[in-house]
Amino acid sequence: MSQSARPASDAPPPFDLGARLSRTPAASGDLTHRKLMPALYNLALGQLLPPEMAIVGVARTAWTDDEFREEMRVAVNAHSRSGEVDPDVWKGFARRLRYVTAGFDDPAAYETLRDLLRGLDDELGTRGNKLFYLATAPDFFPVIAERLGAVGLSGESDGNFSRLVVEKPFGEDLESARELNRRLEGVFREQQVYRIDHYLGKETVQNLLVLRFGNAIFEPLWNRRYVDHVQITVAEELGVETRGGYYDQSGALRDIVQNHIFQVLSIIAMEPPARFESRDVRDEKVKVLRAIPPITADEVDLVTVRGQYGEGYIGGKPVPAYRTEDGVAPDSNTETYVAMRLYIENWRWAGTPFYLRTGKRLPRRATEVAIQFKSAPHLPFADTAVEAVVPNQLTLRIQPDEGASLKFAAKVPGPQVDLRTVSMDFQYGSSFLKPSAEAYERLLLDALLGDSTLFARWDEVERAWEIVEELLKAWAANPIGEPNYEAGGWGPDAGDELLARDGREWRRL
Ligand code: BG6
Repeated sequence: MSQSARPASDAPPPFDLGARLSRTPAASGDLTHRKLMPALYNLALGQLLPPEMAIVGVARTAWTDDEFREEMRVAVNAHSRSGEVDPDVWKGFARRLRYVTAGFDDPAAYETLRDLLRGLDDELGTRGNKLFYLATAPDFFPVIAERLGAVGLSGESDGNFSRLVVEKPFGEDLESARELNRRLEGVFREQQVYRIDHYLGKETVQNLLVLRFGNAIFEPLWNRRYVDHVQITVAEELGVETRGGYYDQSGALRDIVQNHIFQVLSIIAMEPPARFESRDVRDEKVKVLRAIPPITADEVDLVTVRGQYGEGYIGGKPVPAYRTEDGVAPDSNTETYVAMRLYIENWRWAGTPFYLRTGKRLPRRATEVAIQFKSAPHLPFADTAVEAVVPNQLTLRIQPDEGASLKFAAKVPGPQVDLRTVSMDFQYGSSFLKPSAEAYERLLLDALLGDSTLFARWDEVERAWEIVEELLKAWAANPIGEPNYEAGGWGPDAGDELLARDGREWRRL
């Protein structure tokens, strides 16, 4: 197989797209260095790549094949979960690496690439199979697809495949996403397009499916009759680091909610698929999104909260306000925190609120789903010290400290009836004693194998944009005002009030 991956480039863009080019980490080659190449190397280390495969990097930086190999060796050493490269494995891996210096808009460059790939077919026996990975600024996605098509690289014939892996962001609102999809569709069929959402590659997110559908005890309770509400949290301690330019155009709603959180939500809420296959799983996920009514302009203030961090302290160290971060406008209106309440209008979930929250510069990194069950209907403990019991809660920890725990009431030992909440805990680390693969390893392998189950289908992406379309417009029309939470705090007070109005509170993490 031949692949196209894009390495780092500090060189100027091939044509002037101005500041928009800084809107993705991959524009600096960061993704290839930190994630893609370490993932490919770890697949090679695990002997999961076929011997007849080449990895072709394409970027504007003028590198020879050997310079590219050396750059990638340094990157893998720095970022691979398996530590320093094994010299023997690296030798075999480095032989697969090739490099083409090219501007993404340069038609001639695609002819060079096509000829190189043909040569590799003959040399390595890759049989014309190709996987193109667009780890570039999003502005380049359509032009690259079109240029690939123009030189005949998008076609599939004689059982050979040509696939396109598209990084996020897939559009910046409903209209731009539709336009991007229209242009990709002009060249690649939907079955050839793999839209990455790296949350779907996380072991713990896949485990949500196993927990729900591989056990008999949870599913009967997994509905409006027994679940009071669900909380999904993606909390980050980090700020925007070197990505201020990208993030300031994006914000937390586009960066995390519309994709990662909605994907997790659809897995948590979906009906059991008949089979764990791409079409069945994605059909069920999109039904969940379709059952969520788009947020209307009138209800924005009632069901959503946004925030932006000011200066504060994390781990005892002072951290700057969002507006003073590199690449961020000093009067920025971009939200770094979002909380919202959604309902899924179907028989399983009608009336059960789903509360979602995400934020940067919160006190700690924690991604989790908490299923809050209803209280026991009747407490038969009259004439005892027991006045109330804490309702059961199932917490699914996606990261870090991956695992799950179930809270329930237990009797405190002694002559009286007294209850206390205890928990049953499962931890990935101690149960399996082996580290999980990185999300990108799983997703790259699946894309090579042609399994699109863990990739977002166009109808899912489109519906996710539809849900937040009016919200994006309302927020754009209405400035955020002053920063409303301190770095190192749990977000604005309004985030707590959103739940307090419903008589509930966020889980303390
Ligand atoms: C990315 C966002 O998609 O996900 C980042 O662009 C965010 O802003 C990251 O930090 C979080 O991913 P993870 O795997 O660390 O939870």
